[in-house]
Amino acid sequence: MIGLYDIHCHILPGLDDGARTTEESIDLLKMEYRQGVRHIIFTPHFRQGMFEATKEDIERAFLNAKKNAEKIAGDLNVYLGCEFYVDSHIIENLENRKKFFLANSNYALIEFRIDVSEDEVRNVVCNMLSYNWIPVLAHVERYNCIRKNMSFLIDLSELGAKISVNAGSIMGKNGIIVKKFCNKLIKNRLLDLIGSDAHGQKTRKPNLDLCASYLEKKYGVFYTKKLMIKNPQIITEGRLNSNEEK
Ligand SMILES: [Fe+2]
Repeated sequence: MIGLYDIHCHILPGLDDGARTTEESIDLLKMEYRQGVRHIIFTPHFRQGMFEATKEDIERAFLNAKKNAEKIAGDLNVYLGCEFYVDSHIIENLENRKKFFLANSNYALIEFRIDVSEDEVRNVVCNMLSYNWIPVLAHVERYNCIRKNMSFLIDLSELGAKISVNAGSIMGKNGIIVKKFCNKLIKNRLLDLIGSDAHGQKTRKPNLDLCASYLEKKYGVFYTKKLMIKNPQIITEGRLNSNEEK
């Protein structure tokens, strides 16, 4: 499928545990393009004490990657974002780094520690929404408190959080339990967005083409396009109504 969006990947080089060199970053861009991806939001980790690239370094890396993307193809569009790790400073960090919300929108990609509790997730979601920031929850399939309680996930979605999973998880790369959970989300129309969460050429490679084919076979072309093109387009086009894509 041509025109796919990748809303979550670690392709900017040297900022986190993703691409290490410019060459690797270029190869990953080419891989994405070959897979039909035409819009990529780069989301390097921001986590205090672990991944703390400066704003200047991130912007420099982005401008270079944008030039490289233009050389690969005129219709490969790239945007800047960030994957914010939730700790006690999350609101302050989001406020300081608003320019790294997804593609300059009011959507911010956030991740939690694996054993996060329902209360912590709910508090952060409500807190962000009170600032009119829309939380996009990265790889919800990782969190026990969400996997084990579908009604909690429904609550989060109704509050206005956007639910995302990694493409690999949908296809079973993280085991059958996670695969079943992801498919349950899709069947119940609770999933909003899908990211590759690509980190490199060898492990955690871009895989959105495989995911699109899988979804197309299982759920049809219309719904696949909604998840992998239409919903992310709402973010990059800056339409701000938090419930528009439901
Ligand atoms: Fe990630």
